[in-house]
Amino acid sequence: MKRTINSLLKMKDEGQKISMLTCYDYTTAKIMDKSGIDMILVGDSLGMTMLGYPDTLAVTMEDMIHHGKAVCRGVEEIFVVMDMPFMSYQTSVYDAVVNAGRLIKETGANAVKLEGGAAVCEQIRAISDAGIPVCAHIGMTPQSTNVFGGFKVQGKDLAKAQQIVNDALAVQEAGAFMVVLECIPAKLAAIITEKLQIPTIGIGAGADCDGQVLVWQDMTGMYTDLVPKFVKVFADGNRTVTEGFKAYDEEVKAGTFPAEEHTFKIDDDIIAQIK
Ligand code: KIV
Repeated sequence: MKRTINSLLKMKDEGQKISMLTCYDYTTAKIMDKSGIDMILVGDSLGMTMLGYPDTLAVTMEDMIHHGKAVCRGVEEIFVVMDMPFMSYQTSVYDAVVNAGRLIKETGANAVKLEGGAAVCEQIRAISDAGIPVCAHIGMTPQSTNVFGGFKVQGKDLAKAQQIVNDALAVQEAGAFMVVLECIPAKLAAIITEKLQIPTIGIGAGADCDGQVLVWQDMTGMYTDLVPKFVKVFADGNRTVTEGFKAYDEEVKAGTFPAEEHTFKIDDDIIAQIK
């Protein structure tokens, strides 16, 4: 059954956890669609996992649309959220609405996500008023890596912790239907989850959030440039794929691949007539 905003909100009300993974391509989206996953985030983390940048800052609207279209072609049931890339919404409320509109119209996704709390509430309100569901993202917001001085846990002192709670309440008030809490202490995430009516989705924010999100190349061990503490590797995709690549290399070099069953036939009398 296709997940909707209503079914996701109902999951929070009924105490059912929401599963979300990042995804950036058609083939992986099809596999996720058959795996019971509730939501896909076409994250701007694609800058790192798909494009090899050191962070998410260089990702463009065109990058997001290219990958978002591919993902949406692969899903029937999963609710798809598109990340708004750096500088596609910070510059003005007008830019935010135009770019959110492009992400939805050009990909077929269901919602957008943007980073920031009280500072982006005008954007959240305007995008929501335009009929586009908005997922907020607070705590450690990777697009602000230069302000944080790296990918660091946020909200450990009272002032910062209170600011994150205030941000959570502000984005809900502005109309966000969901909020990602990234890299904050678990007890702080639990308080926020308790205070909010909208679902919280944690990444490095403990087990009490209403749902969890991970980068799929992290949870399958495929991406190894940076392995955050909060990642659990659920399947050793890196080893499996590496073994496949090595076996292919060996068979090609040994001449054992392709075998008879991978080969097309032609009548011998045709071959005999070829000049
Ligand atoms: O881009 C992304 O993958 C994200 C997650 C880390 C939540 O924003």
